[in-house]
Amino acid sequence: MERVLSGVQPTGVPHLGNYLGAMKQFVQLQDKADCYFCVVNLHALTLPRDPAMLRENTLDLAAMYLAIGLDPNKATLFVQSQVRAHSEASWLLQCVARIGELNRMVQYKEKSKGSESVVAGLYTYPVLMAADILIYQADLVPVGEDQKQHLELTRLLAERFNRDYGEVFTIPEPMIGQVGARIMGLDNPEKKMSKSAESEFNYITLLDDPKKIEKKLKRAVTDSENVIRFDPETKPGVSNLLVIYSLLTDTPVSELEKRYQGAGYGQLKKDLVEITIDHLAPIQQKYHEIRRSQELISILKEGAERAAQTADDTLRKMQEAMGLL
Ligand code: AMP
Ligand code: TRP
Repeated sequence: MERVLSGVQPTGVPHLGNYLGAMKQFVQLQDKADCYFCVVNLHALTLPRDPAMLRENTLDLAAMYLAIGLDPNKATLFVQSQVRAHSEASWLLQCVARIGELNRMVQYKEKSKGSESVVAGLYTYPVLMAADILIYQADLVPVGEDQKQHLELTRLLAERFNRDYGEVFTIPEPMIGQVGARIMGLDNPEKKMSKSAESEFNYITLLDDPKKIEKKLKRAVTDSENVIRFDPETKPGVSNLLVIYSLLTDTPVSELEKRYQGAGYGQLKKDLVEITIDHLAPIQQKYHEIRRSQELISILKEGAERAAQTADDTLRKMQEAMGLL
């Protein structure tokens, strides 16, 4: 059975980009593969973070994993910092990665721009991510398109390690959806939807209430043509709405184009408001139930124990291969 690993940072409520680009795929994969999904709280330390908030956000995201339908009996759900092999393997891989390779990482360049106090962890972030993936011998890594470069680095490090120290790692493949790999900002469809956007009209979070969802979608930027057609180049706003609609309802975009022939943007937005509210309502209800229960802590503890068995095994092989006592 194929092994799958992915992670999301606990940096606030996930938005539709995180959900449609990555997390929704997790739910489908848990029935077909041996899945490991983690809350990557160590990665969240790379930008300034309030400790109390990080603790809460970590549990919030774990609860959200369960709320969207991940089942701890099918997939291993855990918090990255509770499995020590991630940090240890990361150091070993830092001694495999080259500075020139890290210099080329686009996300590092973007995140460090304009900041005077960039921590070293932001720079070595992709190596920790490689460790996350490689210690589980993952075959597949479902992520949004923005993570493609990090996956390429992961493969490169695994290949170099295998060549220089002996075969230890499975070479992982990225799994990037054909649609939805890049959900764009509602207020600016030229750029990806992002938690760090200046305006909250950029995104819809999985916990937005119906009023907010309606307000944000009604304000979503479109164009003046008033024809519903998928064309990301010339009609990025409408195309983005069609992609969101398509993924929330599992309907091909081409069918939506047919269905909305002759209709205007008002109708499309009105329907999408309803669909989004209906899709998120059960997730939100389940989220609040789980977040309040004690069960969450024990699920994560068990998940970490299970994860550690696999991860420690690979870490031991890495240590042996590198000549560490
Ligand atoms: P993060 O919150 O940065 O840890 O991202 C979690 C997952 O969501 C990663 O797999 C990202 O690639 C994915 N993701 C983030 N933003 C978007 C977006 N706008 N469209 C599609 N996927 C996204
Ligand atoms: N870097 C990823 C992001 O920002 C999160 C991440 C960390 C991840 N480790 C991972 C994703 C391992 C997939 C696999 O979205």
